[in-house]
Amino acid sequence: MTQRPITVYTLLVYLVFGLTLLCATALLALGQLGAVEYLFVVVLALRSVDALLKAGSQSMSMSVCQNAIDTSERILAAEPLPETDAPQHPKGAGIEFDHVSFSYDKARPVIDDVSLVCPEGRLTALVGPSGSGKTTLTRLIARFWDVDGGAVRIGGVDVRDMAVEELLGMVSLVFQDVYLFDGTIEENVRFGQPDATDEQVRHAVRVARPDQVAERLEDGWETRVGEGGGRLSGGERQRVSIARALLKDAPIVLFDEATAALDAENEAAIVEAMHELARDRTVIAIAHRLSTIAGADQIAMLEDGRVTQLGTHGELLSQEGRYRSFWEDRRRAQGWRVR
Ligand SMILES: Nc1ncnc2c1ncn2[C@@H]1O[C@H](COP(=O)(O)OP(=O)(O)OP(=O)(O)O)[C@@H](O)[C@H]1O
Ligand SMILES: [Mg+2]
Repeated sequence: MTQRPITVYTLLVYLVFGLTLLCATALLALGQLGAVEYLFVVVLALRSVDALLKAGSQSMSMSVCQNAIDTSERILAAEPLPETDAPQHPKGAGIEFDHVSFSYDKARPVIDDVSLVCPEGRLTALVGPSGSGKTTLTRLIARFWDVDGGAVRIGGVDVRDMAVEELLGMVSLVFQDVYLFDGTIEENVRFGQPDATDEQVRHAVRVARPDQVAERLEDGWETRVGEGGGRLSGGERQRVSIARALLKDAPIVLFDEATAALDAENEAAIVEAMHELARDRTVIAIAHRLSTIAGADQIAMLEDGRVTQLGTHGELLSQEGRYRSFWEDRRRAQGWRVR
């Protein structure tokens, strides 16, 4: 988009240059212009072209900068999270949604009276159609937004009554579209806990095996992954992000599983890492993979911002309801068999 005006501008500059040259040559041929004047015009036109093109690219850089400035201003103008004056410490890491309602535009409810308990040390899978509110629900835990009604509690304490630092320290996020910064894989993992010892980093990479990913890159562990992690596949980025979460060692992990199909190696590494993560943490996974869904301790089916079914895989399969057809569709699409 931003390329188009500058391309048109460049073409125009060259067009005018070409016309000037053509006229000057014609005048020279007709004897109306002397050789010295002709040379003078050519040199002048060439220098003008140069200056005009430079000015064009400068103005393009300025507009890019202006965009960045606008974004920064928007971020700075955002209201900070209201902080409580008397922070309370949660007892444990279990999560409870208590009649939670939320809407982005304060008109259409996106989360509609959701009550759900996600016990400590258990894996809760959230499933449901696109747009049903799964990502929104998990983000309410980390206070990306505050609820409009009801409460989200961690260890019995309303997240609004916790010190923001303590809340963020308790939660690890593994996003669907992980953003890695342009550093090495190791730097990206260490970001989870910058003062981690080498031993801790080794432990974190033991499961999700981002080192295996690194081995395939030309400079191994030292390779830079590119802005946003562009040199890695989605599954590989998620492995780096899981290792980051393991290193941070937070008691709550919110996992937005990648929807894209994974190859066998990435799939195996992520499944194993999920189990390791779920062992003694509260994990809420927005689950797309059948193995994650079937292996969850409880599954909540979300439809239009409401929990319509809750139970284990076996329980939900034996019930009338959306889950059964949802599961069958997925199974058919992914060619998976329950043994
Ligand atoms: N930042 C936002 N601002 C405004 N509306 C939003 C925002 N994020 C999501 N929504 C809207 O809220 C609803 C729920 O979105 P959400 O992302 O929670 O769904 P989801 O269940 O995670 O879907 P998916 O499976 O596609 O990821 C959608 O209608 C969406 O358009
Ligand atoms: Mg989502």
